[in-house]
Amino acid sequence: MNSEAQVLYEEMKTRLGKMVPDFELYYKAEIAVEINRLKKERNAVIIGHNYMEPVLFYSIPDFRGDSLDLSRKAASTDKDVIVFCGVKFMAETAKILNPSKTVLLPAEKAGCSLAESITAEDVRALKRKYPGVPVVSYVNTYADVKAESDICCTSGNAVAVVESLKAETVIFLPDQYLASNVARETGKHIIFPSLTPQPDTLLDVQLIGWHGKCEVHEKFTVEDIRAVREQFPDVVVLSHPECSPEVVAASDYSGSTNAMIKFVQQSTAPHFLVLTECSMGDNIAAANPDKDLLRLCMVRCPHMNMITMENVRDSLLYNRQIIEVPEEIRVRAFQAVDRMIKIG
Ligand code: 13P
Ligand code: SF4
Repeated sequence: MNSEAQVLYEEMKTRLGKMVPDFELYYKAEIAVEINRLKKERNAVIIGHNYMEPVLFYSIPDFRGDSLDLSRKAASTDKDVIVFCGVKFMAETAKILNPSKTVLLPAEKAGCSLAESITAEDVRALKRKYPGVPVVSYVNTYADVKAESDICCTSGNAVAVVESLKAETVIFLPDQYLASNVARETGKHIIFPSLTPQPDTLLDVQLIGWHGKCEVHEKFTVEDIRAVREQFPDVVVLSHPECSPEVVAASDYSGSTNAMIKFVQQSTAPHFLVLTECSMGDNIAAANPDKDLLRLCMVRCPHMNMITMENVRDSLLYNRQIIEVPEEIRVRAFQAVDRMIKIG
């Protein structure tokens, strides 16, 4: 092991020694050295979502964060190459914002059940059914869906984006749970229409949703929370707004991945239950050794889980998988993403 790998190994051991076996830290430190060399050679930036597994999360990204944060970072980079340690819709968003740069997604099939739940034609059909009603698309959608939308949002700014439109009725796609949680927070009424040719009456309806769900967050239940509270009455429960409205209502706090991380850092509660993707719980635990994070880890996001140190190294080495967005779609999608970034 050379001295650079030794330094990285020591850093990883200090932070992650209690959760990752030593031989893995050794091996990953050597890969991290290779990645850092390739990153310099290619004038690249590595961006990592909060759901990356702990060794990757704490070793190679130049920036870490939630979707909103990472869109902002992607928008402001001056590097030639962006390696996105996240899923395809995130890498596409980086490309939409940086058409002249090379954007690489280390795992070709790293998708998202929400992004898969809706097509551009579905959005066009909704617009035909509700002419003139503005469309808000969650950033967890593909570029062609964003291109049909007036504005994007993330879990961190969904309420602010909906309120910024000052519209009587808003189409909010594609996450039915996030839509219901936004409706609850803003006091708006919501419907989930079928795409019948007959227009629904919009009397008293202020949010029109879609039937997408996150395959990870839909698994958490109110019963899970009840069982943990029974054992740990003073636990503070945090949930991502992609969880069902019942789970969010039964939690003490709900927010984006960044917001939940910040909440745990700032709270003095004796125990925390964080209802989101498992690796993020590990990452919070590693950064806050003094806090007690109870784990309910039955689910990892299978898409985020496809990103590894090995395929990040190979993405830089072999220039793969290059993300492309057709220019005609990109310019329209850019407007929706840019409007969101400007709102903050
Ligand atoms: P955040 O924007 O809160 O990071 O969430 C992204 C995501 O995909 C959650 O499942
Ligand atoms: Fe998509 Fe859910 Fe995975 Fe987030 S956790 S990337 S919403 S499947």
